[in-house]
Amino acid sequence: MRTVECPGLGRKVSTLGFGCASLGSRVSEAQGRRALAAAFERGVDWFDVAPEYGDGEAEAILGRFLIGRRDRVVLSLKIGRRLVSISPAARLLRPLARRLARLFPEFLGEFPLTRTASLRPPLEADEIEASLAESLARLRTDHVDVLVLDDPSPEDCVSDAMQKALRRILDKGYARAVAISGAPEAIVAGAAASDLFQIAQFRDSPFEQAADRLRAAIAGGARPTFVTHGIFGGGVFDRVLRLLGSDGGRLAALASQLGYGPPYLVNELLLDYAFANNPDGVVLASMSNLTHIELNCARASNPPRDDVAPFVVKYIVEGRS
Ligand SMILES: NC(=O)c1ccc[n+]([C@@H]2O[C@H](COP(=O)([O-])OP(=O)(O)OC[C@H]3O[C@@H](n4cnc5c(N)ncnc54)[C@H](OP(=O)(O)O)[C@@H]3O)[C@@H](O)[C@H]2O)c1
Repeated sequence: MRTVECPGLGRKVSTLGFGCASLGSRVSEAQGRRALAAAFERGVDWFDVAPEYGDGEAEAILGRFLIGRRDRVVLSLKIGRRLVSISPAARLLRPLARRLARLFPEFLGEFPLTRTASLRPPLEADEIEASLAESLARLRTDHVDVLVLDDPSPEDCVSDAMQKALRRILDKGYARAVAISGAPEAIVAGAAASDLFQIAQFRDSPFEQAADRLRAAIAGGARPTFVTHGIFGGGVFDRVLRLLGSDGGRLAALASQLGYGPPYLVNELLLDYAFANNPDGVVLASMSNLTHIELNCARASNPPRDDVAPFVVKYIVEGRS
């Protein structure tokens, strides 16, 4: 596994991170524990979790997995939004809603059950510490390595009250570093306002290219370590698969000149794109299937390629010939 220096934590971390979004919901505890162990054995030491992940089960599952391993991992926790309790009926309907959203990604916004995050009101600055304490109890630890602020507004990122609350948490040792997760505008505002936010987490598929825009926008100052996600989720995988299959094999033939071919052409292309576009940061993936874990860890062990992002953008995103 390739490692990268994370200055905010003063240590090296694996360039592939394990996203716990499905632990306890789509993925059972037993399958999740097997996946966590398989990734950890292959060198993954960054674990990303949030109170709402796995319909509220992921923190406890990860906490149980981390017994005896806590000091060998980076625990990254995203908080900052009020939790919405899920009724038993909604809990039953969510897998179906998620399946529909995966089949018809263009209608994702029509299924509120699949996207509770944006519906949840933000926590006030003085509520963050109490929310963190509840998460620490579920995670069975006394600190997280990274406290990630969940989708704050640019105003939240520069607010005195928020910065004081976060510094208090750092001073008390409840977190080692603080991050912003969310929109590029909030990340840029946070980076300009303070040296507090040493890590930035955001979605970055070939169709967004957010890392490039952020690198340009933050140029000059100390750039936060990037933690990116979204390489397979949200319909990206299927969209690339469709594009590659829709031109009579011309794109696949071009990709083969770079060494990509069946059976994992799209998977490897997207992974290499993600690592190339974030070469000194962490790429998060949810992964419960052992084939996915092995593939992701294998690609995370290679040095980042500089030919794959231009190829993906030119031929797949822009559709140029
Ligand atoms: N605002 C935020 O900060 C934020 C937002 C969203 C997500 N996240 C974090 O990022 C993580 C990843 O989320 P995401 O949106 O990128 O992905 P995702 O929606 O969690 O989807 C990943 C999907 O891709 C599959 N997959 C994994 N490796 C693959 C491979 N090599 N080839 C094909 N499919 C593969 C997984 O399947 P299997 O499980 O079957 O292996 C999973 O179903 C989350 O778990 C969460 O920790 C953070």
